[in-house]
Amino acid sequence: MRVFLASIPLPGTSVVVVGAGDAAAAKARLFDGSGATLRWFAGPEVEPDEAWIARWPTAKDLSGARLVFIAVSDPGKATALAGLARASGAQVNVVDQPGLSDFHTPALIDRGGVVIAIATGGVAPVLARQVRARVEAALPQGLDRLARLAEGLRETVRATLPDFTARRRFWEAAFRGAAPDLAVEGRTAEARREMLRLLNRPDRVQGVVHLVGAGPGDPELLTLKALRALQDADVVIHDRLAPAAILDRARRDARRIYVGKRRGEHSVPQAEIATLMIAEARAGHRVVRLKGGDPFVFGRGGEELEAMRAAGIDVIAVPGITAALGCAAAAGVPLTHRDQAQAVSFVTAETRPGGAGPDWASLAAPNHTLAVYMGVAGAAAVQAGLLEAGRAADTPVAVIENGSRPDQRVVTGQLGGLARLVAHERVVSPALLIVGEVAAWAQPQTMAREAAA
Ligand SMILES: C[S@@+](CC[C@H](N)C(=O)[O-])C[C@H]1O[C@@H](n2cnc3c(N)ncnc32)[C@H](O)[C@@H]1O
Repeated sequence: MRVFLASIPLPGTSVVVVGAGDAAAAKARLFDGSGATLRWFAGPEVEPDEAWIARWPTAKDLSGARLVFIAVSDPGKATALAGLARASGAQVNVVDQPGLSDFHTPALIDRGGVVIAIATGGVAPVLARQVRARVEAALPQGLDRLARLAEGLRETVRATLPDFTARRRFWEAAFRGAAPDLAVEGRTAEARREMLRLLNRPDRVQGVVHLVGAGPGDPELLTLKALRALQDADVVIHDRLAPAAILDRARRDARRIYVGKRRGEHSVPQAEIATLMIAEARAGHRVVRLKGGDPFVFGRGGEELEAMRAAGIDVIAVPGITAALGCAAAAGVPLTHRDQAQAVSFVTAETRPGGAGPDWASLAAPNHTLAVYMGVAGAAAVQAGLLEAGRAADTPVAVIENGSRPDQRVVTGQLGGLARLVAHERVVSPALLIVGEVAAWAQPQTMAREAAA
């Protein structure tokens, strides 16, 4: 270890920033609202302002300061100010001058009660910033809420569990169960209730279910939240729409349970999937129910949410990029356009057995884009329904197969020939049909399958 990172409690501390440029402003911003008393001396050459003092600090100004940051371009001035500050007993940082500094500023991730610092001893600050970006992506925005919740329960936990080891075990379990996820989501009352429940029944850690949208297939289209849930999961319950490239982002030792189906093939019934999710959560596991696209867009996420709530399992929905958005972007189709589409509807061509199909009459207006899900087998019905309802036969259509994946294919045509196009091109599921004026924007892409093979 070449540097040692210590943390300085800021409330009641005095911090001084010296300088007028961007670096000084950045340091001043860092301590704004931190609990430290900040004084910013911007030098005699700037206009007075309520944010700063327009002169250099004197020895008296610096007396009692704990940290002094000097960000002035004149090296002689910087050295003199550093000497003055040091003589007052402060720790000094001269920006970009590690040799003149008592300490370096690490790359910081500030989540209120939780602060993470990455230091390279001033040797490679850019590397530190890159590491910070990665760590930042892995940490929930609401981490501070969790720290505050734990702080609020400290005394209760201490009184209930006087034994140190029992307390440590409790906190380990509490930070592993449902409470942290609820807290970072802002569901603090539920998180608190969960922690108290665990305190009374430490043998009963209850897990949590994340209903996670995996997006259309490109792992880069996962949200940060989805990625975090995957990386924290003990169990991942997934279907066919979750490609290996996404499952590989899960924790290496997470159990994967496949419950998917292809059209017409038998699959695990929905009730059985819900039972499995409940059992895994009751066993104390962090369960990710990974669904293609968005869980609540033709994903039966609503039914799973309902089943978890009925069973008293904490459930957190993590949205995903739905196929319509992912496929449109991948094919270069703007779903709405000032001149060509003032509305967009997400429609499914597949309905419950015996159920009514879409109301094509309400979907057949010009300048109205339709993103049709599950439309490969039903392409003829989509075509007939829309033509019958008055949509023009020369309305552009685009069919995007495996949108956003390496084997993506885009074929284009007109509504009057949609069924023929799908059959002739041997389009396979998953594919999305886009019907409407904007489909003319699609860039046909027929080589991808061969290229990927
Ligand atoms: C059961 S629905 C699930 C939709 C998903 N919840 C979503 O939000 O995208 C499955 C249908 O989504 C569409 N789909 C999903 N992923 C796709 C992809 N990568 N490319 C094209 N269509 C896709 C297809 O129409 C497929 O038949």
